[in-house]
Amino acid sequence: MKYNLSELREIIRNRRTIKPEDYSTRKVHKEIVVEILNNALWAPTHGMTQPWFFKVFTNEGIPRLADFLADTYKTQTAPEHFLQKKFEMLSSRPRLATVAIAICMKRQEIEKIAEIEEVEAVACAVQNMHLTATAYGLGGYWSSPEVIYSNHMKSFLNIGDKDRCLGIFYLGYPKGDWPASHRRPLEYQSEWIEK
Ligand SMILES: Cc1cc2nc3c(=O)[nH]c(=O)nc-3n(C[C@H](O)[C@H](O)[C@H](O)COP(=O)(O)O)c2cc1C
Repeated sequence: MKYNLSELREIIRNRRTIKPEDYSTRKVHKEIVVEILNNALWAPTHGMTQPWFFKVFTNEGIPRLADFLADTYKTQTAPEHFLQKKFEMLSSRPRLATVAIAICMKRQEIEKIAEIEEVEAVACAVQNMHLTATAYGLGGYWSSPEVIYSNHMKSFLNIGDKDRCLGIFYLGYPKGDWPASHRRPLEYQSEWIEK
C-alpha cells in the first residue's frame, strides 16, 4: 500500500456537514483556509480548464454576504411565498461562521468542455476542500439557497453571465460532538456486469 488507506477511509467517512448554527466561536485562520483552497485546485478537470473560482468572505465581508442573501430573498420572493423564518436564517447563518466561501464555476470562453463537466469539476474541488477541512477537525457546509442561482448573485459576486455560483461553503469548528451519519450499503447502489 502506497498510502495509509485506513486514515484516508476515516477522513472520507468522517467528513461531515456541520452548519454554522453548530459552530463554536473559534476563528478559522486564514492559513488553514488557504491550505483548504490549495487542495481544491487539485481536483480533476477536463481539458485542464480549472473552472473553479472562490470568493472568500471573512470579517466585514460576512455581514455583507448575509445582508445580500436575506435582502435578495425578500425582494425576489412573492409576498405569498415569503417566509420570515427563512429571511432571518439567511441573515443570521453566515454571521455564525468566521469564513464563508462562494463556490463559483468560471465558464471557459470557448465553451469547448460541456458545462456539466465544469460543474462536476467544481464539485470535486469542493470535496477536496471538505476532506481537508475534516483533517483539521473542521465541519463544512455546502449551502445552496435559491438566491445563489440568481443574476443578482452574479452581480453581487461580480462574475460573468455564463459563470455560475454553485453555493456557499461554510467552515467552522463544531461546538458539540462530531455528528454521525449513515449511508445505504453498496449492494443497493451498485451493479456488477460480468457477462
Ligand atoms: C450540491 C450540494 C448542495 C447542498 N445544499 C444543501 C442545502 O442547501 N441545505 C442543506 O441543508 N444541505 C445541503 N447540502 C448538504 C447535504 O445536506 C449533506 O451533504 C447531506 O445531509 C449528507 O450529510 P454529510 O455531508 O454530513 O454526509 C448540499 C450538498 C451538496 C452536495
